[in-house]
Amino acid sequence: MNISEAIKQRFSTRAYLNKPVSKDVIYKILDIVRFSPSGHNIQPWEVAVVMGKKKEELAEKLSKAVIDRQERRFDYEHYTKNLPPKLKERHNTCNRLIFEHKNIDPKKDKEKLLEHILQNFKFFDAPVELILMTYKGIGAAALLDIGIFAQSIMLTALEFGLATCPQTSIAMYPDIIRETLQIDEDKIIVMGLALGYPDNEAHINKLRMPRDEVEKFTTFFE
Ligand SMILES: Cc1cc2nc3c(=O)[nH]c(=O)nc-3n(C[C@H](O)[C@H](O)[C@H](O)COP(=O)(O)O)c2cc1C
Repeated sequence: MNISEAIKQRFSTRAYLNKPVSKDVIYKILDIVRFSPSGHNIQPWEVAVVMGKKKEELAEKLSKAVIDRQERRFDYEHYTKNLPPKLKERHNTCNRLIFEHKNIDPKKDKEKLLEHILQNFKFFDAPVELILMTYKGIGAAALLDIGIFAQSIMLTALEFGLATCPQTSIAMYPDIIRETLQIDEDKIIVMGLALGYPDNEAHINKLRMPRDEVEKFTTFFE
């Protein structure tokens, strides 16, 4: 698979096979993505690889937080509610396509909606959840580095037959993640990445999100 194929073939995978990913493979992926660029080469990333019983414990605590409607807050400034109209429309389309695909009416099917939300916090039953962190107070630019690092992981994973789903949803409960994994207070939780072998038969994995054409977001200056 070449790079353009990898970029086009990657998609957010929300169902996984019940098949473990070896620590050796995870190490190999991280050993490649450490060559990702970062501003001034500060490499501001830290990764928690969460598997096995620890993953179950974290999923349980996060799910409980959702069910108990615990207060949600990100460690960093997330998208504002006032997205520009074009972005708001894409946001709504994304949700609509997922709900249509899963045959959920979010206004009526409250139980199905909760189940859908909880799947995020159970990491879509992926055997591995990577938690990507950076350092508190070092500036929003660090999030650029983490985003690039995350894409490196998502693309490299494909080479090993693995799939991923980026997840900022779980970063809404950073204190639970820090406490469960005994992460220092000087780290902020940026995002999760579900990682595992894709269940290619799963209906949800047949969903593909649309993208705008180049002309919609590009201006050439000569
Ligand atoms: C930073 C980031 C955070 C995301 N968080 C979530 C999430 O919490 N849950 C989820 O199901 N998808 C999440 N996604 C996946 C997006 O919905 C997805 O990338 C987008 O709809 C495009 O679809 P594709 O990745 O399948 O091409 C996230 C993606 C990114 C880049």
